[in-house]
Amino acid sequence: MHNDIETVLYSEEHLRETVRSVAKQINEDYSGKQLVAICILKGSLMFFSDLIRNLDCDVELEFLSASSYGSSTVSSGTVKLGQPIRTDIKGKHVLVVEDILDTGRTLSYIKAHLESLSPLSVKICTLFDKPARRCCDIQADYKGETTEDLFIVGYGLDYNEKYRNLPYVGVLRQEIYSKK
Ligand code: PRP
Repeated sequence: MHNDIETVLYSEEHLRETVRSVAKQINEDYSGKQLVAICILKGSLMFFSDLIRNLDCDVELEFLSASSYGSSTVSSGTVKLGQPIRTDIKGKHVLVVEDILDTGRTLSYIKAHLESLSPLSVKICTLFDKPARRCCDIQADYKGETTEDLFIVGYGLDYNEKYRNLPYVGVLRQEIYSKK
């Protein structure tokens, strides 16, 4: 385990099972349908790549970069989007794939943006849901785990761009993020 991690919350094996279970629900709901899955970078990269390998419907892949935290542990409240997606989603089913739904600002902003492009549907899939910190009226259609209000990193989730590569999800030691 990395020295900066206090405790492992979700092991690699646990995450693998969680991803499989989320994919199973998506496969049931989109059976026989075409889907555009959108990875919200950077945090969702690992979840997305594992999830799509468990999908058996026709799926197109897209990537959208969004950030609101920078190097802070608190959302700035302003969501910045990167390059627009290149796939025309008009008339298509869209699944937004996120690592974590926290205050909900990022996904509210992204959902409204995608809905303005006239898709057939937009659903949200998040690996982690932290309902305690929600300040927008938004819910996930698919979720892996409901988590407490702990500062978690790994499996795509970062603090100041570190720890994304950890294959598990752990709680970051408080002294690491209170140094600043
Ligand atoms: C994180 C995470 C979600 C968002 C969730 O992204 O990946 O996109 O915050 O928080 P919210 O519900 O409070 O909006 P971040 O802005 O840190 O960018 P990153 O994905 O590149 O780490």
